Order: sequence, then structure tokens, then C-alpha cells
Amino acid sequence: MSRHFLSIFDLSREEFTALLNRASELKSAKKSGKEHRTLAGKSIALLFEKLSTRTRVSFEVGVNDLGGDALYMNTSDMQLGRGETIEDTAKILSSYLDGVIIRTFEQERIDIFAAHASVPVINALTDLEHPTQIVSDLFTVAEKGIDVQNFKLAYIGDGNNIVNSLIGAAGVLGFNLSAAVPEGYEPDQGIIKRAIDLGGEIEIVNDPFQAASGSDVLYTDVWVSMGQEEESSKRNELFKPYQINSELLEAANNGAYVMHCLPAHRGEEITQEALEGPSSIVFEQAENKLHAGKAILEMFMRT
Ligand code: CP
Ligand code: NVA
Repeated sequence: MSRHFLSIFDLSREEFTALLNRASELKSAKKSGKEHRTLAGKSIALLFEKLSTRTRVSFEVGVNDLGGDALYMNTSDMQLGRGETIEDTAKILSSYLDGVIIRTFEQERIDIFAAHASVPVINALTDLEHPTQIVSDLFTVAEKGIDVQNFKLAYIGDGNNIVNSLIGAAGVLGFNLSAAVPEGYEPDQGIIKRAIDLGGEIEIVNDPFQAASGSDVLYTDVWVSMGQEEESSKRNELFKPYQINSELLEAANNGAYVMHCLPAHRGEEITQEALEGPSSIVFEQAENKLHAGKAILEMFMRT
């Protein structure tokens, strides 16, 4: 049976830590030009139903760096886009490929694909989760010398896929997470419960300053995720108090870092000063998607 990476909860604490260590090794290898062709001969497809810049390019380059072949497939170019079933697509693609990386809408779509695939499947973002992003983000936090099992992260904004996977990670690793979201835009209740059951200290509040207080990292994401474009004007109004700016940064611990998975909307969820200022580790976060992505590929696609 193939092992899939569909949710952040698919990792144990030991595996999560092993990924962070391996990402660091792979980053050093890349920087020093040392070859690391651990996926030589493997063909891995990226099956994307939503747009992507970072995840697509970092996984394509990552597969190539590891000696494999990457194929990018936009589902609108496939029979899947005109009604062929996910089940049939999964079975057939499994007979050509050694692994599939999927970006889609409902979590159910990737779950169905994985249930009918005989090769490993990696979640590259669904409406519910973005687990590969969060592994990369925790690698970035660890690189700053922060103990990922013992720090406080404040998430400010929409209760979306990013914060869902951050909450899962807080459960798996054991760090503290406080999310400030407007009423009615809470993260997934099932994920919160599961993370708390694992021992995570999770707090959901409405006041961004309450969340930011005592935090080592301030994290935000777009107010309007892919697929929510019709809600743009309502959300852009409602989320205004949920911005990372210098005032909010003042409420965090001295030396706190600013994070954003990107793409950013300057002047909405984050100010230009916060994004480009000395506390920001946003662009390191983006680069690290390559190194952490390769650690994930090795863990799930090498079998
Ligand atoms: N952070 C992230 O997943 O970016 P892309 O949508 O560009 O892949
Ligand atoms: N929450 C955003 C993340 C983009 C990387 C979205 O789903 O569009």
C-alpha cells in the first residue's frame, strides 16, 4: 500500500522532525552543488486544479534535483476536466507514474484520488489544508534557532487551509498557536479538536492583539483564498482589523518574526513595511519550499 501525505496529521512528531533535519541537509547540498539524486528514474506528476507559482515550481525543480522527471498537468487540459472520474484517472495515472502531487478544491477530491491510486499522493493544497507549506514554514522557524516544539505562533486573518494545517502542526509538534479570526471565519472544528487531543495548545480568539501578545511568530495569509473570489468585497471589508502591521508587531515578543505563505496583498492582510521589514522571513519561507519539498518527496516517493 502506498503511503500518502494528504494531511499534516499524516506525520508523527518524529517524522516531522526528521523532515526538518533532512530539509536542512538538502539545502546545504544544493548550496554546495552536491548531487542528491535519490529519486533517479521516478516520474512524478503535478496535477493542479488551481493556480500556483511557488508550489508548482519548487516541486518541479525539486523532482529534477532529485534525479526524477516532473510532469505538470493542468486538469483543464485533461479528460478529468470534462467529466472523466477521479477514480479512473487515479488508476490510470498510477500505471504510468511513481507518484502524484495534487492541488485541488475539496479535500474529498484528493482523498478519493488517493484511495484509488497505487502510487503515493502528496497534497499541494486543498480548500482544507496545505501541509507541504507548513512543513516548509516550520523548517524556516527552526532555521531561526526557535525550538519548534516550544514557541508561540499567532495567526491573524482567515480561518483557512493555512491555519488549519498550522493548527495540525501545533498538535503534532506541541507548540502554542493562537489564531485571531473574525466571528464566523473560524478554522476547521475537527482539526482543532484533533490537534488539542494530541496535546496542542490552541486558542481561537477574535482580537488580533490578544493573539499577538507573547508570540514569537506572527503569521498571516490572504483574506480571499482561491475559489472565494465572489466574496472578495465582503471579506476585504470585514477583515480590515486583521492586518499584520507595525502596531501589531509591537504587541508580539521582541524580535518576533513575520511570516506569510504568499502570494501577498500589500495593504490588505499585511503592510509593505511588515512584509519588507527586518522582522520578515517571508522570502526565506518561499525559498525553503524547495528544500522542504524535496525532503517530503524523499519521505513519501522513495518507496
Ligand atoms: N504558498 C503557495 O502555496 O504559493 P503558490 O500558490 O504560488 O504555490
Ligand atoms: N489560502 C490561500 C493559500 C495560497 C497559497 C489559498 O488557498 O488561496
